[in-house]
Amino acid sequence: MKKRILIIGASGQIGTELTMYLRGIYGNHKVIASDIAEAADEVMKSGPFEILDAMDYDAIQDVVISYEITDVYLMAAMLSATAEKFPMKAWDLNMNSLFNVLNLAKEGKIDKIFWPSSIAVFGPTTPKQDTPQQTIMEPSTVYGISKQTGERWCEYYHNKYGVDVRSIRYPGLISYKTQPGGGTTDYAVDIYHKALKHNKYICFLNEETTLPMMFMDDAIRATVNVMLAAPEDVKIRNAYNLAAMSFNPQEITASIQKHIPDFKIEYNPDFRQEIADSWPQTIDDKAARKDWGWEHKVDLDEMTKIMLDNLKGEY
Ligand SMILES: NC(=O)c1ccc[n+]([C@@H]2O[C@H](COP(=O)([O-])OP(=O)(O)OC[C@H]3O[C@@H](n4cnc5c(N)ncnc54)[C@H](O)[C@@H]3O)[C@@H](O)[C@H]2O)c1
Repeated sequence: MKKRILIIGASGQIGTELTMYLRGIYGNHKVIASDIAEAADEVMKSGPFEILDAMDYDAIQDVVISYEITDVYLMAAMLSATAEKFPMKAWDLNMNSLFNVLNLAKEGKIDKIFWPSSIAVFGPTTPKQDTPQQTIMEPSTVYGISKQTGERWCEYYHNKYGVDVRSIRYPGLISYKTQPGGGTTDYAVDIYHKALKHNKYICFLNEETTLPMMFMDDAIRATVNVMLAAPEDVKIRNAYNLAAMSFNPQEITASIQKHIPDFKIEYNPDFRQEIADSWPQTIDDKAARKDWGWEHKVDLDEMTKIMLDNLKGEY
């Protein structure tokens, strides 16, 4: 059967770029974008779009049947910083949306699922350097607890019911096309906008907060590649560690100053500091590299150049 893809949460930071990338591969009308909110113009105008609530099993099933969907990418979620403000809502959305797609696959209505996990599955007791694929995981945030629980359920549905679900623990993702959606690594996008607009940025994390990060193009490629891998090569069915670069606010500032020498940063840490302090600094992603050939392409200085080149027209 020919592939037909449904993206749930297609209007968000990742969903927007993922939709356009998948439309480029499979054809515009084969990739159905959906969200509770309308997407960017390029998504709305290039192919099918449905208003769809990830919490509504029947509505998802209707879309799956009417478009003969084979693969679902579930990108709807409440992110780390917002989830700390609305714990029960975050738990409801992050868990029930996942159960909805897992159950559709269990019932044989779809073939394959992509569901993103996060470095937030790790916690303060996890080794912070070269964090292994398998290690201590005691997440201290609502978001992290929901992602870790989600991982357990993905593996369970795979082992018990043969559901073909694939997942990656994304680091902080940086893009120039769409604004981030309420995560703890959002500063690494905002800093480029403020550098161009005001020559100055006030950072909500302190200067030494090193976190794993990735340019969006690398993350989209990883997402599609893990979905294209032969099932037997996807040996890990909770979620793969994935890494590209790690940096702190001081280092991204130095990278920006190579292009904007008088750019200045000030630090005013807020509640997100505690979240960031609970996460790893560097990630060991050997398993993804070995099992399905993951390779990152973009490092910090290259990303800075791409971000500034693409954003400077806006300011
Ligand atoms: N962006 C990152 O740095 C990052 C890092 C790690 C993991 N992730 C994960 O990747 C996924 C996508 O993240 P993102 O950054 O694109 O998030 P985002 O907040 O930018 O986008 C999420 C989208 O989901 C939609 N949505 C919310 N509730 C919905 C509902 N009930 N039904 C349908 N759609 C709904 C929102 O309208 C939004 O467009 C999430 O699972 C997130 O946890 C993201």
